[in-house]
Amino acid sequence: MQKTIDIVENKANFDELASYIEAQDASQGVLMQTLHKAQELFGYLPIEVQKFISEKTGIPMAEIYGVATFYTQFSLEPKGKHTVGVCMGTACYVKNAQLVLDKLASELKIPVGATTEDGLFTLEATRCLGCCGLAPVMMVGETVYGKVDPKDIPDIIKSYRE
Ligand code: FES
Repeated sequence: MQKTIDIVENKANFDELASYIEAQDASQGVLMQTLHKAQELFGYLPIEVQKFISEKTGIPMAEIYGVATFYTQFSLEPKGKHTVGVCMGTACYVKNAQLVLDKLASELKIPVGATTEDGLFTLEATRCLGCCGLAPVMMVGETVYGKVDPKDIPDIIKSYRE
């Protein structure tokens, strides 16, 4: 189920989003940049924010939801403090990135795309991270880990829990 947000608590963000939408030229396609702006403000795109954009722009909810779920840069759920990304590009895949991803899912006890209950980690599968020579590669936030052995995962995760 989608998380919801407190509209009163987030009033400043809604006001800023309204100003942003008003400043756009509605005759141009404004949905992508409006969703980017909303995600920048709220950190993700909860249903209330999608409804707000629909009311302000006249764009149907179905279209907004469709775009928000189609593009991987948008998230409908709040992200954890640390985003853990495992590269599933070809070079990493042939070097057993799937085993790294599976080990992370079992260590964090969440499926790919989910966030841990304590809000610390979000697990993602990513495209090529541009350092294929280090395959298999994973990232925690902006930190890159290369030649990852699934056996290393518990220690890596533990270092972010401390
Ligand atoms: S395929 Fe993984 S970094 Fe390029």
